[in-house]
Amino acid sequence: MDKIKEVQEEALRAIQEASDLDALLQVRIRYLGKKGSIQALMGEMKSLPKEEKPAFGQKVNTCKQEVTAALEERQKELQKKAVAERLEKEKIDITLSGDRLTLGTTHPLIMIQQEIEDLFLGMGYKIAEGPEVEQDFYNFELANIPKDHPARDMQDTFYIDPNTLLRTHTTAMQMRELEKAKGETPIKLICPGKVYRRDDDDATHSHQFMQCEGLVVGEHITLADLKGTLEFMANRMFGEGRKIRFRPSYFPFTEPSVEVDVSCPFCNGKGCSVCKGSGWIEILGAGMVHPHVLEMNGFDSEKCSGFAFGVGLERVAMLKYGIDDIRNFYINDVRFLKMFDRFD
Ligand code: DAH
Repeated sequence: MDKIKEVQEEALRAIQEASDLDALLQVRIRYLGKKGSIQALMGEMKSLPKEEKPAFGQKVNTCKQEVTAALEERQKELQKKAVAERLEKEKIDITLSGDRLTLGTTHPLIMIQQEIEDLFLGMGYKIAEGPEVEQDFYNFELANIPKDHPARDMQDTFYIDPNTLLRTHTTAMQMRELEKAKGETPIKLICPGKVYRRDDDDATHSHQFMQCEGLVVGEHITLADLKGTLEFMANRMFGEGRKIRFRPSYFPFTEPSVEVDVSCPFCNGKGCSVCKGSGWIEILGAGMVHPHVLEMNGFDSEKCSGFAFGVGLERVAMLKYGIDDIRNFYINDVRFLKMFDRFD
């Protein structure tokens, strides 16, 4: 009986001394567990004379109940203490200044690309894509620029191996689309994307830039369709009232070929410093798809015809936003990029 009292006192002391929930759990195991001290007291009952057993058993049970009650009591206390400590530790000082979240803006070139995409999607064009690492075949051969053609010099090329290069113009995608169509018309698509040339970077040249190609092939497609389409584009991109002018030019993949000028949006064609007094600004190259290009791609050039154009997106963005150095698009100076959030 003394031993029971001893165990009980010891247990109650240990419970009070447990300073956290982990320690309390250890106390519970030590006294109430299967191999704990109170269970051990029960074991000792076997060696007692029969008449002493009930009183001893009862006493052990009371001891067990009291220890259990004390444990529960202490557990509640410690839980409360733990919550209070956590609340104290995790307290947020709402008076501290926060981190400012800076949001990016759409890159001006992407803005121009999206604008062109929207306007051509609205006219029922599809948007095509193609690889930037391109085969010589699509970039040059199918575009009517064979190996020894002088036009290859116009586009100094980054070669990866003799047959693989970084595409020098989006015309490579035009050729892929023509080949894919297997002579079937109509075709009506644009292909925007990055292109690369071995140029030394300066205010008007960049070894990486963006173009958007346009291609329409079908029956009775004429230069007048090209002109109407480009005039519509110029009016949407540079404001109503723009006029378009064709000047004869040369591209191996078009015949006839034209350089396209737009009436200067800054002086309305009167002549200013941007258009160097001429009233016109050159914006793109275009033409009627060369019959040989159509034939090479499986089209009957007697039955169908097409127009194509290729526009440089930097050029459009520079004109539209008055930017005088093409390198701005690639330096990624946040102060420059930030200026475009008002157009976003
Ligand atoms: N590929 C030409 C260039 O990079 C641009 C071009 C001109 C594309 C005339 C065309 C076109 O589709 O018809 O300079």
